Amino acid sequence: GLTAGITGLGVYVPERVLTNFDLERMVETSDAWIQERTGIRERRIAAPEENTSDLAANAAKGALAAAGLRPEEVELLIVATATPDMLFPATACLVQDRLGAKQAAAFDLEAGCSGFVYGLAVAAQFINAGCYRNVLVIGADTLSRVTNWKDRTTCVLFGDGAGAAVVQPVAPPRGILSLYLRADGSGSELLKLPAGGARLPASPETVQAGLHYLHMNGREVFKFAVRSMEEASLEALRRAGLEPEELGCFIPHQANVRIIDAVAKRLNLPPEKIFVNVDRYGNTSAASIPIALYEAVKSGKVKPGTAVLLVAFGAGLTWGGVVLRY
Ligand code: ACO
Repeated sequence: GLTAGITGLGVYVPERVLTNFDLERMVETSDAWIQERTGIRERRIAAPEENTSDLAANAAKGALAAAGLRPEEVELLIVATATPDMLFPATACLVQDRLGAKQAAAFDLEAGCSGFVYGLAVAAQFINAGCYRNVLVIGADTLSRVTNWKDRTTCVLFGDGAGAAVVQPVAPPRGILSLYLRADGSGSELLKLPAGGARLPASPETVQAGLHYLHMNGREVFKFAVRSMEEASLEALRRAGLEPEELGCFIPHQANVRIIDAVAKRLNLPPEKIFVNVDRYGNTSAASIPIALYEAVKSGKVKPGTAVLLVAFGAGLTWGGVVLRY
């Protein structure tokens, strides 16, 4: 029978480019340091009036057009984000309204940078159960809004953006072949935005202490990233019944080129099969994988029938992988 697969992709990134040279004027850093340690050259920053919901809606429009789907035909709309417009209502509801997806259920999914992989896995369940035929999964983040622009150890890493996928039943051999999702909350301290939730509501003290910014232990996250992406890659491939050599394209979460290189080396993947665009966007969190997949398709690295591995890690800690035949 049919199985869940991606039938349309869309992307939106803000117009404003922030280069490493711009950052040199903001904090004690250099283009050379940022390029050597991260592979990032520039990132996009949302305009003051642009919010996560706007980025998400723009990406969604592209995905719907690519799939030839009208907004009213969407039955479920998932927004994976760590930077929702508000704590509630869900950003997915704001996007649903913006699109005119009048028939859709809508909710947010919070799995940090693994959000899009988690969202794709959720969408596949609704499709494969025969519950829905038209699901929209969006990864969107505006990390620039929670970045401490005085902290050189984090502010050079992130960028804003959104990517979206329409998930529908497709005929084999196309479709999602395997899923692997994991979490380890014992690592929740390594990457977090401490205040603004119900535990530490906003107060003059939380603002003063900088607790509304993203906080990260970069070194520990780096080690976790390499370990977890290798594990998720091997497990997702095993579940799909594929050897690493059978893979056409490896699309890892775009956080740092050194993390990507370390994982690719452990998997023994040749450079031409690895997709990298972190140099142009930095780490766009939940948006990174759908933006990368979109560009991999546009550039011809992913064609109909290509076996693709999507692998992510993020705050939570969370990690996971999806193997699909595009
Ligand atoms: N410019 C210049 N120097 C810097 C900068 C900067 N922007 N940032 C840090 N440094 C300095 C440090 O202060 C340190 O100096 P010291 O030795 O005098 O103390 C030195 O550079 C080395 O710092 P390290 O932290 O050891 O550098 P490292 O090589 O580990 O790179 C980095 C840091 C890039 C943050 C790396 O650890 C990393 O990429 N970690 C993973 C981060 C990540 O992927 N996060 C995303 C998670 S996904 C999500 O959910 C958002």
